[in-house]
Amino acid sequence: MIDVQDLTKHYAGRVAVDRLTFQVEPGQIVGFLGPNGAGKSTTMRILSGYMPPTSGRARVNGHDVFHASLQVRKSIGYMPETAPLYTDMRVKEYLRFRAELKGLTGRALGQRMGEVMDLCMISDVRRRLIGHLSKGYRQRVALADALLHKPPLLILDEPTNGLDPVQIRQVREILQNLKPAHTILLSTHILQEVEAVCDRVLMIHQGRILAHDTPDKLTRQLRAATLVQLELKGEGTHLLNQLESLPNVRKATLDGEDEGWKRISLRVEARQDVREAVMNLASAERWQLREMHRQMPTLEDVFVELVASDRTR
Ligand SMILES: Nc1ncnc2c1ncn2[C@@H]1O[C@H](COP(=O)(O)OP(=O)(O)O)[C@@H](O)[C@H]1O
Ligand SMILES: [Mg+2]
Repeated sequence: MIDVQDLTKHYAGRVAVDRLTFQVEPGQIVGFLGPNGAGKSTTMRILSGYMPPTSGRARVNGHDVFHASLQVRKSIGYMPETAPLYTDMRVKEYLRFRAELKGLTGRALGQRMGEVMDLCMISDVRRRLIGHLSKGYRQRVALADALLHKPPLLILDEPTNGLDPVQIRQVREILQNLKPAHTILLSTHILQEVEAVCDRVLMIHQGRILAHDTPDKLTRQLRAATLVQLELKGEGTHLLNQLESLPNVRKATLDGEDEGWKRISLRVEARQDVREAVMNLASAERWQLREMHRQMPTLEDVFVELVASDRTR
């Protein structure tokens, strides 16, 4: 569905996207994940045919996005980061205007407008002015617009950015409903979002791909797999060093202190359990231990680790 090879984009000499190579198979929801400035929007704009790459190539449905941008736009529904909606138009009026631009006419037009308004749960605001809608509704009008021409591929740039939790859940529900018939590439800087809806994750940082896999595989292959969190009270300035010298403890970090109770996290070798050793050490040193909790890895851990190893490369 999407085939990207060595895609690179420079803005005034600065590299925004650096030799990206990846493929997206039909029917998947792929989460494009990375911090602000990682290059997500740039990549999505190139894929949608709105901007040429500096070098490299990208194909959508077998068509080159630059040389066959008309065909590409037909197969893509693109929702930009800030959707250029006309605030003084009514929802229905706006969608009709957009549908006509996309070549729909007559009964097909009316029918499709009804369908996308239902899909995006905006039928109840069809007569409202776009400028009077909440951000969540406006976002869904933009999504309805992107869906009008029945594109098999959806490219959604931060579809839940700035929405409240209820609205975020509505967007997720819509994405799940769209899934059977669409391939979806969505960008986000929120990790939980990717864990909630995506089949695969593309992690991007400073314009480069750090990883591309299922959320499950990414967390399983994590090297510093587990985190153990402690709260303890004890004398001694070498406490962290002592914890760190336990077998299988990679790193001990002091996260905070509250009335003498130190909050400490231990990064532990994958699949190792150090809790018993921590207990024994605490009792030998006469530390008071009031909490010990083993946290299973999240995508956030994967991301942090990949960024760190990328820096040392
Ligand atoms: N039109 C532009 N002109 C110059 N630099 C840009 C432009 N758009 C983005 N950039 C820069 O390119 C990098 C990637 O930006 P962007 O693709 O928007 O990242 P993301 O969407 O992941 O936040 C950033 O360093 C950003 O400042
Ligand atoms: Mg962006």
